[in-house]
Amino acid sequence: MAQPKVLLQIAALGTAAAAAHKNGLDWLTEGERARLAKMRAGARRAEFVAGHWLARRLAAHWLRVPPRRVTLDAFADGRPALHLDAAPVPLSLSIAHSSDWLALALGEVAVGVDVELPKRGRDLAALTRMAFSAAQARELRALEEPEREAGFYARWALKEAWVKRSGEGLRPRQARTIQPEPCDEGGAEARSWAFHGGALALALGVPVRLEIHGARLHDGRHWRYAR
Ligand SMILES: CC(C)(COP(=O)(O)OP(=O)(O)OC[C@H]1O[C@@H](n2cnc3c(N)ncnc32)[C@H](O)[C@@H]1OP(=O)(O)O)[C@@H](O)C(=O)NCCC(=O)NCCS
Repeated sequence: MAQPKVLLQIAALGTAAAAAHKNGLDWLTEGERARLAKMRAGARRAEFVAGHWLARRLAAHWLRVPPRRVTLDAFADGRPALHLDAAPVPLSLSIAHSSDWLALALGEVAVGVDVELPKRGRDLAALTRMAFSAAQARELRALEEPEREAGFYARWALKEAWVKRSGEGLRPRQARTIQPEPCDEGGAEARSWAFHGGALALALGVPVRLEIHGARLHDGRHWRYAR
């Protein structure tokens, strides 16, 4: 049987935000406009508008319909939900933003995507203590730089991608129990790539047929989650 299809779209935030604003924002639903009205920070507004615009285009491309027929709202847990002419679309969508980048995943199976880019002043040792189990933290500390920082961002993004796939969100105590482990492609539940000094991660649960658009990714790795 064919593996389920998943699309991963990567885009520069500024370019997507400019395209999203080009002909006004009347394509946003009332619900989206109400959410946007509560956002004060310009950067947050830009990532929300750009992500929702790109999500429509990606879904419209998949469904072979004009983007205006696709709308977005959210499930009660926060995961984005797609509609075609107001009817639910049976595809899973996940949106992530970090710094100047956007990543979206759309799939026939539940998907979760996360991008984590370095920020000045971030205390990786403190974050490791907060969000990693003692064994995971030891594993990271045993690495030399730059592998340690790359390993931190990959695992952090993998944790967030996993909870975005399920919709459960992330609290520090629970973050420690989500333990990504490198594995072979065959048993993989997730993938990660090095991305602008940080990492991009995609949680999938099962092997998929993945199409990547918008960037050439490198240093790809396969992971499963220890339970
Ligand atoms: C869901 C969650 C993981 C999002 O993380 P984030 O880094 O703040 O933001 P991201 O850019 O990755 O993702 C934001 C998008 O996720 C989606 N989202 C929101 N809640 C979600 C949920 N419960 N499940 C899946 N997706 C969700 C939305 O589409 C949102 O974008 P939008 O509001 O513009 O539509 C967040 O709710 C959370 O739990 N953050 C805690 C992070 C943390 O403390 N990490 C500790 C280190 S491991």
